[in-house]
Amino acid sequence: MREILEELERRREAARQGGGKRRIDAQHAKGKLTARERIGVLLDEDSFEEWDIFVEHRCADFDMADKAVPGDGVVTGHGTINGRTVFVFSQDFTVLGGSLSEAHAGKICKIMDHAMRAGAPVIGLNDSGGARIQEGIDSLAGYAEVFQRNVLASGVIPQISMIMGPCAGGAVYSPAITDFIFMVRDTSYMYVTGPEVVKTVTHETVTHEELGGATTHSSRSGVADGAFDNDVEALLSLRRFIDFLPASNVDEAPQRPAMDPVTRAEPSLDTLIPDNPNKPYDMHELITKVVDDGDFFELKPDFAGNILIGFGRMDGSTVGIVANQPMVLAGCLDIQSSVKAARFVRFCDAFSIPIVTFVDVPGFLPGTSQEYGGIIRHGAKLLYAYAECTVPKVTVITRKAYGGAYDVMASKHLRGDVNLAWPSAEIAVMGPKGAVEIIFREDIGDEEKITQRTEEYRKKFANPFVAGHRGFIDDVILPSETRTRISRSLSMLRNKQLDNPWRKHGNIPL
Ligand code: HXC
Repeated sequence: MREILEELERRREAARQGGGKRRIDAQHAKGKLTARERIGVLLDEDSFEEWDIFVEHRCADFDMADKAVPGDGVVTGHGTINGRTVFVFSQDFTVLGGSLSEAHAGKICKIMDHAMRAGAPVIGLNDSGGARIQEGIDSLAGYAEVFQRNVLASGVIPQISMIMGPCAGGAVYSPAITDFIFMVRDTSYMYVTGPEVVKTVTHETVTHEELGGATTHSSRSGVADGAFDNDVEALLSLRRFIDFLPASNVDEAPQRPAMDPVTRAEPSLDTLIPDNPNKPYDMHELITKVVDDGDFFELKPDFAGNILIGFGRMDGSTVGIVANQPMVLAGCLDIQSSVKAARFVRFCDAFSIPIVTFVDVPGFLPGTSQEYGGIIRHGAKLLYAYAECTVPKVTVITRKAYGGAYDVMASKHLRGDVNLAWPSAEIAVMGPKGAVEIIFREDIGDEEKITQRTEEYRKKFANPFVAGHRGFIDDVILPSETRTRISRSLSMLRNKQLDNPWRKHGNIPL
């Protein structure tokens, strides 16, 4: 018996060595942890249950029969983060570059299938040279099996991708379908075609980092939801992030006992809005002063900064926050911000996370680049997402809520449950100056008259009371009581019931 036990340990140890010391050293020299070290940082201590450690590839072409490594380049299994179950796969770059074989894909599919049955999130730690070139079409088949599962799991369990090395070619499309993509700066990249192909086809010279690094995707393309400086920071942040999410679409997000009283007044908010309506203020300040303990996990912080999205908690429960940011493009909605917020709203709706919306929006961004880029269909995504969603929606208009953008931003007309306004709110079809220049076109040039008319218009419409008379907002509140009012509304809405009519699925303007 002892020999059998020794044999088991010998085999396990061989698997733990992955591609061997030389390749592990090379991995460390790049500033990267190994696949197993990453799991060690991500999961609670000693919670990891590894599966399929003995799986090997079955390819015999190109001398591959001699190159079988137990585990086949991916470590899979389940464990816990702060006591809650998650399924994990972690690609092992030291084994054939973490390339995806049929067997490697089979291991990922197995944990995805279990995660669906168990109702627990899947976290993928991606570090792979792509399709196992020696396996050809078997590898492509493996990718497609993963893609299919990504799609079926979408909206059922949260799926999170952490890109920690190469992720290129069609391989990018599995993370792309997952709910959130995070990346590690300087060591990870994602692209459909690499710098060499780009050079050949378009004659552009570009580095891996410029083409698909973490900075590119978190600030330019919007592919990534966040970027971190190194593996440890990334994995610890992921631990914090997952605490905001429910395990599945039939589960509630975890409650964190709140030390922060919901009755906490925040008098500094009474002076947040500048006297000059054209002067910006930082919407982050409002968000962090309203959520529990100022804890706001912002997503895509460096992309489409004119809208802010992320998770916080109110009275211990997770809320999704969407907020126009007057500091960037005056808070206008444009293509990127609409798409950014729309996908977030849909995630919250799929996982029953209430949405709190802070509105200060002067309208849609004008310009040919917006129109040619399709602001009509992209802006429609946000409208569609808000109108379709059935989770509790609490909206606070802090200042401008003009035109179509007023409608879009979780207005009463799109089934906003509780719509509040600060006294500084201006809910109107457009800003006073623009309105006067249209209604009183004949007065243009007469500055005195225009100023007088603008002031008249401002008095009449640039306030929350016209909307208040019609019940389009439920109350005008003091900024300092915002936290309390939102909390009470959310608690009133805890058992909200609302269903959309039956359909196979809607047809969001993609
Ligand atoms: C098999 C691979 C591999 C792959 C790397 N390796 N990629 N083996 N299939 N796709 C092996 C290498 O042979 C090497 O083995 C080890 O992994 C480490 O690779 P290096 O090249 O030494 O590492 P590095 O210099 O860091 O370069 C990493 C790399 C490069 C940029 C990822 O390896 C590379 O370009 N690989 C090929 C990428 C690729 O073309 N993949 C297919 C894309 S198409 P040894 O034994 O020396 O350690 C695709 C389609 C997916 O993925 C379609 C889905 C629908």
